Amino acid sequence: MRIYPNFIATLSLAGALSISATLPTAATQTRDRDALQKTLLATTTGDKAAGRAIFDKVCASCHKLGDAGKEIGPDLTTIAATRKRPEIIESLLWPSRVIADQYQPVLIQTKDGDIFSGLVMKENARAVTLVTAEHPETPVEILKSKIQERQKSTVSAMPENLLDAYTPDQIAGLIALLLSGGK
Ligand code: HEC
Repeated sequence: MRIYPNFIATLSLAGALSISATLPTAATQTRDRDALQKTLLATTTGDKAAGRAIFDKVCASCHKLGDAGKEIGPDLTTIAATRKRPEIIESLLWPSRVIADQYQPVLIQTKDGDIFSGLVMKENARAVTLVTAEHPETPVEILKSKIQERQKSTVSAMPENLLDAYTPDQIAGLIALLLSGGK
């Protein structure tokens, strides 16, 4: 019956490979963000109404700004007090470069071979509940008895490509809105 441990070893090797294969996919670059960063740094004003439309559509599922939005990521209402414009631009274009400790994402592989990446929302002796970037509105509960491996993830729970569909002017509007605390 030596086949059984071999089978387990193969499974965990395959698991390790698929975990590392997941990371570059999450970071796939579909737009020249360095050029966009330069444009945004040079644009100091923006149309806040255009920014509000983007916020409501793509940010409010995870962030609060004034009264609107959810608190999966940090509350952005007072971001102007703690972050300068260039830092905000970097957070928007490359969310994984700086990840605050309390938003440290984890990567969990289950014994069934499923892989989840997200923020721990709740945890007890029985299960871990994760909020994932793909479906922040539907947290996933994973039983601890089903967990094969758990590690820190270097990929932020904030998706990288959120602003790919928007023009620099629209994004400048979003930044202006953030810097004004949503007003
Ligand atoms: C799926 C959830 C999610 C979505 C959608 C999302 N974010 Fe985030 N965001 C996070 C999390 C989690 C963090 C903290 C971890 C990090 O910094 O990467 C964060 C961090 C940030 C920060 C840095 C905050 C700080 O204090 O340094 C900014 C700014 C920000 N988000 C703005 C936005 C904007 C604007 C949008 C919409 C275009 C957006 N986020 C969409 C989850 C999200």
